[in-house]
Amino acid sequence: MAGISRRELLSSGLALSVSSLVARSAWGRTAAMITGTTSGESQAAIAPREHLLFDFGWKFQFGHGSDPARDLGFGNGQGDFSKTGDFTFAKAGFDDSKWRALNLPHDWAVELPFVRDEAQTSHGFKPLGRRYPENSVGWYRREFEIPASDAGRRITVEFDGAFRDVLVFVNGCFIGRNDNGYAPFRFDLTDFLNYGQKNYIVARVDASFGDGWFYEGAGIYRHVWLTKTDALHLGRWESTVRTAVTDSSAILTLGTVVENRGKQAENAKVSWQILDAAGKTVATAEAPGQSIAVDGAATFTATVKLDNPALWSVDEPNLYSAIVTVEVDGKTRDAERITFGVRTAVFDADKGFLMNGKPLMIQGTCNHQDHAGVGAALPDRLQWFRLGVLKEMGGNAVRTSHNMPAPEWVEACDRMGMLMMCETRQMSSSPEGLAQLEIMIKRYRNSPSIILWSVGNEEFLLQGPMAEQGAKIAATMVRRCHELDPTRPVSAAVNGTNEKGVSEALDVIGFNYNLARIDEYHKKHPAKPIYGSETASARCTRGVYSTDPLRNTMTAYDVSPAMWHEYETAELWWTFYGTREWSSGGFCWTGFDYRGEPSPYGWPSISSQFGIVDTCGFPKDTFYYYKSWWGAEPVLHLFPHWNFAGREGETISVWTFSNLDEVELFVNGNSRGSQKVPRLGHVEWKVNYESGVIEARGMKDGKVVMTEKRETTGPEVSIRLTADRTEIAADGEDVAILKVEALDKEGRAVPTAGNLIGFKVSGAGALLGVGNGDPNCQESDKSPKRSLFNGLAQVIVQSTKRPGEIHIEAVKEGWEGPELTPAKLVIVTRKVELQPTVG
Ligand code: GAL
Repeated sequence: MAGISRRELLSSGLALSVSSLVARSAWGRTAAMITGTTSGESQAAIAPREHLLFDFGWKFQFGHGSDPARDLGFGNGQGDFSKTGDFTFAKAGFDDSKWRALNLPHDWAVELPFVRDEAQTSHGFKPLGRRYPENSVGWYRREFEIPASDAGRRITVEFDGAFRDVLVFVNGCFIGRNDNGYAPFRFDLTDFLNYGQKNYIVARVDASFGDGWFYEGAGIYRHVWLTKTDALHLGRWESTVRTAVTDSSAILTLGTVVENRGKQAENAKVSWQILDAAGKTVATAEAPGQSIAVDGAATFTATVKLDNPALWSVDEPNLYSAIVTVEVDGKTRDAERITFGVRTAVFDADKGFLMNGKPLMIQGTCNHQDHAGVGAALPDRLQWFRLGVLKEMGGNAVRTSHNMPAPEWVEACDRMGMLMMCETRQMSSSPEGLAQLEIMIKRYRNSPSIILWSVGNEEFLLQGPMAEQGAKIAATMVRRCHELDPTRPVSAAVNGTNEKGVSEALDVIGFNYNLARIDEYHKKHPAKPIYGSETASARCTRGVYSTDPLRNTMTAYDVSPAMWHEYETAELWWTFYGTREWSSGGFCWTGFDYRGEPSPYGWPSISSQFGIVDTCGFPKDTFYYYKSWWGAEPVLHLFPHWNFAGREGETISVWTFSNLDEVELFVNGNSRGSQKVPRLGHVEWKVNYESGVIEARGMKDGKVVMTEKRETTGPEVSIRLTADRTEIAADGEDVAILKVEALDKEGRAVPTAGNLIGFKVSGAGALLGVGNGDPNCQESDKSPKRSLFNGLAQVIVQSTKRPGEIHIEAVKEGWEGPELTPAKLVIVTRKVELQPTVG
């Protein structure tokens, strides 16, 4: 296997599906296949450029937000920033031997205990912020080598994102700062490095301030890179490929910027080589040479025709790449690979959204970026996994609410065929607001998945009392979007009438909720395309069939909409958008549950219940509502479970979500009647509970084509472990995602099981995190044990760089009661070609 790349390994059939984590679909087929993970670098380096992963081998220690004595003496009144080179903690000789060793990405918020503090409700009750100075500052330190042969190259450190205020020091020198939680930032270190020697980088990360009203994590929660280029190099995120599609060909407009940081003017030439998905060169182009002065830059452009391009779409995400090369006198000085797709994406006021000329309803979900067990620090693979869950449901789009996404999320959308509405955090035309917007667009404008830029979410003041300023702010942002990317429309997620303020500037009108206002708006503004930028906010607890304010649960039937959002259930909002020809569809709040916003409850709830799937990705019942009406396959989903001991004789609602013609329900073999399935609706029976089995028989054209059963199970006697993949890459990054269940003696999963299970992980990997999707569970995400919640828990294990086997054993953990037969699982970690890393 040596020599094979990580991407090849993971997409060559070893990368299996989300099937074991997503419940099996009704007729027993497993879920959609997904195709692996990547390095997340859609603008990949090509020799002589190096783009080195800087994630491994860091040291970490908490600092302090108000006491310099506990913050490496930083801010002690001695003139911290007074002299360049003064910072001893970023020099040789500083003792970090007692600091914790860790690899990035890292989110320390998820490691903190929960605290009962109402002010922390929306962020998920973590003790972070200015009132918790002891938890709110983290220091990261790393020693690294720069070979003598690097002298003369430009060397840049690049953070994909950190939460939140970062100060970076190298070799005793203060280098720069970043003050937002989501945009990437980079610093040129060339002048500060010791060539042929050891170097030291330190980042002080301060999470005292938040950016949003949801869990945001803390620390360096995305990748860090060290980039080495020639002094004459391509500008970062300056290469663009724009496509104009005609009947059977596409015109590619190619552009880039070359910067000269060398000691003499250079006569540079740029060329492009266009490759198809198989790596075959399908076109080439060249721009005439230009002289670039010292410290100057020049723009290069060219056009090229592509005959019969393989179009990118959600069903066939065909990608191309462009190798952009800068050369002087025939010698390559810098090069990079840009991934792009050829497609058209148009929002039409009469016909809705059109992809490659054909109407396509946006079947989307809004999502924050945290996951069970890991918080905001998602390994790349989890991006793919999460999209796989949403795709299995029939989802074809995500909105990156309410911030710039991680590169791996965008790349997974490009490669899996998911549309993306890409949103910036701050709706502002201030220098900071525009800087965040600009970097988002520059970074992602070649990604075919992105169909819409969003300049922000629900700025009530800018839509109302400050509408005059709102209209100007939004107009400036929209203009900047158009300048940087003339190919995509701009929108925002607006909660209101959309009549004044922000909306005046938008190309496409996004409605957050407010269904009752949309028809009227459409009539009044027939030329404006409309979609649901945010819908539903319906709440359900997975596997719970009663709303109980004493237990902080919301029933999983689709009957718990939020009153402040006009009571939109899944059925209500989709029936609205799904039946209007001019609508483009919409984005449901939310795909995944997330930490924070534990609406409608507070403590001890620590996460939201808005998700169609829980924080682990385990489906709630409404998952199958969407699958019925969004997916292409027949669906029959029957609920609730049938374990209601003690409630014999009570009336229980039995529902099915299905897209078949008619469904008949049987209770212990007796028919309770057949019902036609209303389009975009569901069917429902009232049944007196008796233990045994309920069965739904789904009919199409008068014939039973699917059946689905729920059986009263016996008590749990054993544990089952299943993994999304049993072979993963031995790269120190890849993860296997395991489902944990308890079975009765007949091998049936017990849907109400709540057993505490312990996990022993040994061999070529380690436990990364655990979860169970319970919005009220305050067990640690990091300890090797977890209670099942309504029969399910999740364990995430991560490979080391040593190929071998990861052994996972799940055992009954420290509670009185009948024994459970343990479960064992082996994950093989395969040797792969490792990403180049910093030594
Ligand atoms: C919306 C908001 C979301 C989330 C949601 C909860 O108004 O945009 O971020 O807070 O409400 O219902």
